[in-house]
Amino acid sequence: MKKWMVAAPVALWVVTVAAAGYVFVRGHTIPATDGRTTVLLQPGERDFVLSEMRLLLGVVKDITGGLAEGSNAKVAAAARSVGMAATHDAPSSLLAKLPLDFKRMAMPLHGGFDDLAAAAERGETPAALAGRLGEQLGRCNQCHSAYRFDQVQ
Ligand code: HEC
Repeated sequence: MKKWMVAAPVALWVVTVAAAGYVFVRGHTIPATDGRTTVLLQPGERDFVLSEMRLLLGVVKDITGGLAEGSNAKVAAAARSVGMAATHDAPSSLLAKLPLDFKRMAMPLHGGFDDLAAAAERGETPAALAGRLGEQLGRCNQCHSAYRFDQVQ
């Protein structure tokens, strides 16, 4: 067997693995016109992720309402609804397009809602719970200032 007959498939394998690794880290992104990074998504994927975002805002509203009423049970129920267990229905095509750094910011957000629910259940004060909600909102801001979504057909 000629050397190239071994080398060519190995080289192709290295290129394929490197390309897959690059896509895994970078996702499907380009620089945006406003200085952020934009994740390029199909219309259905963008609709899905933006509806999840509106759900998050609704949960923040419900948590705030629970805090105002002094109801830890309401705070816990709202926070738990967007905990880690809620991340399982994201389409895999979408997950593949999101850069690693984006996922690194998204996961602690869901984990943080589980922590907030647990803290409410063990009777933390409204002030302490409001502090946790503030930290969560910091996570929303951190990602919004770094990323946006644009649509490719
Ligand atoms: C890991 C990244 C990330 C995190 C964390 C995140 N978002 Fe978003 N969100 C985005 C991106 C990207 C957009 C699209 C922004 C754009 O295209 O300008 C968005 C858009 C939104 C929108 C607009 C939805 C629409 O219909 O246009 C809302 C509301 C929103 N996010 C709420 C939240 C709230 C509330 C939190 C925190 C509890 C949060 N997001 C956390 C990335 C994130």
